[in-house]
Amino acid sequence: MEPRTTARTLSYLIVIALVGFVAIQFVRPRLDNPPVTAEIQAPPEVKRVLKNSCYDCHSNETRLPWFDHVAPAYWLVTADVEEARKHVNFSEIGKLPAAQQKGILYEAVNQAQMGAMPLPRYTMIHPHARITAEDLAVLKNYLNPPAPAPAPDDAAKVAADTQYDKWIHASSAMLNVQPELNGIRYFPDYRNWKVLSTTDRFDNHTLRIIFGNDIAMRAIAEHHINPWPKGTVFAKAAWAQQVDANGDTKTGSFIQVEFMIKDSEKYASTKGWGYARWRGTDLKPYGKDADFANECVGCHNPVRHNDYVYSFPLAGQQ
Ligand code: HEC
Ligand code: HEC
Repeated sequence: MEPRTTARTLSYLIVIALVGFVAIQFVRPRLDNPPVTAEIQAPPEVKRVLKNSCYDCHSNETRLPWFDHVAPAYWLVTADVEEARKHVNFSEIGKLPAAQQKGILYEAVNQAQMGAMPLPRYTMIHPHARITAEDLAVLKNYLNPPAPAPAPDDAAKVAADTQYDKWIHASSAMLNVQPELNGIRYFPDYRNWKVLSTTDRFDNHTLRIIFGNDIAMRAIAEHHINPWPKGTVFAKAAWAQQVDANGDTKTGSFIQVEFMIKDSEKYASTKGWGYARWRGTDLKPYGKDADFANECVGCHNPVRHNDYVYSFPLAGQQ
């Protein structure tokens, strides 16, 4: 091609692109702000965090900066807002019972903590919406105000130590634990598995340790943790926190142990994981019937993009 023809073709293309760009501005899906019927009931500092980071998508008070009004960005944001309102709408959940509102906030904190919300593609362009460590603390404090540590008590301490000793030394043969109501059998040896993590103080009165079986630990070493391979098992054991005379926190009485077992086919109805929980020192299977697992799946749903697993391996194991 001669240089003159090339230049002409190029200018045609630019004109076509410009005309196209202007034309798409007229394709505008509607984005209304319906009336705020029942805003979430929460203290002002909590609402401030939600307003700053979440309301643009999860409320009827969406405010878009000018650059979001330009297609095609406008289309993406509109679709996000529509989808987000369907999941959680802070302008409408105030009519629910207080406990349910807190339940939704709990899920919201989980999402934010995992870095799943606000949507990362959104905060990249709207850095003001990023949720900071202080913001998270505000939300957590509201859901779970820090409570005074339980007072030391010698009798309880001795009882807990005896219990812990028994837990450590219990042999599989000694345990005659009934299977869970969905048929999953107890794993007596989880105490010997590797510790994956201990959980933070979000819930301040329990101490939780998360263990992984050999398949889980190999998957971590090989960086195959999303999805986790078939046969992965996690155990999460919980104790009441006990503070000794020196102010050190240690395990008090045993509360429960829970398991998640990966098998996408066998446990297809619960999103690829089998769930089981045994409560108390007598390890009583949890739940009224096999449907108890829906409760587990529901609360693990916010981390579905992480194969339904909350815990990240401790630094150094990866
Ligand atoms: C850019 C828009 C946008 C912003 C800002 C945003 N979200 Fe979302 N959110 C979405 C979309 C879209 C969905 C539904 C699809 C999904 O889960 O990815 C959603 C889903 C959710 C869900 C439901 C998850 C589920 O599976 O049911 C929760 C909870 C949530 N967001 C909390 C928050 C919180 C808390 C904030 C603020 C810290 C926030 N979001 C900010 C777009 C947004
Ligand atoms: C109220 C929400 C909630 C419910 C209900 C719930 N979980 Fe979890 N689960 C969590 C959170 C949050 C973690 C992360 C560790 C932590 O904070 O203790 C977790 C962690 C776990 C882990 C360790 C692996 C991981 O994902 O980090 C297992 C195993 C587990 N849960 C099993 C269960 C079983 C079994 C049930 C149902 C009987 C259940 N969970 C119900 C919130 C929940």
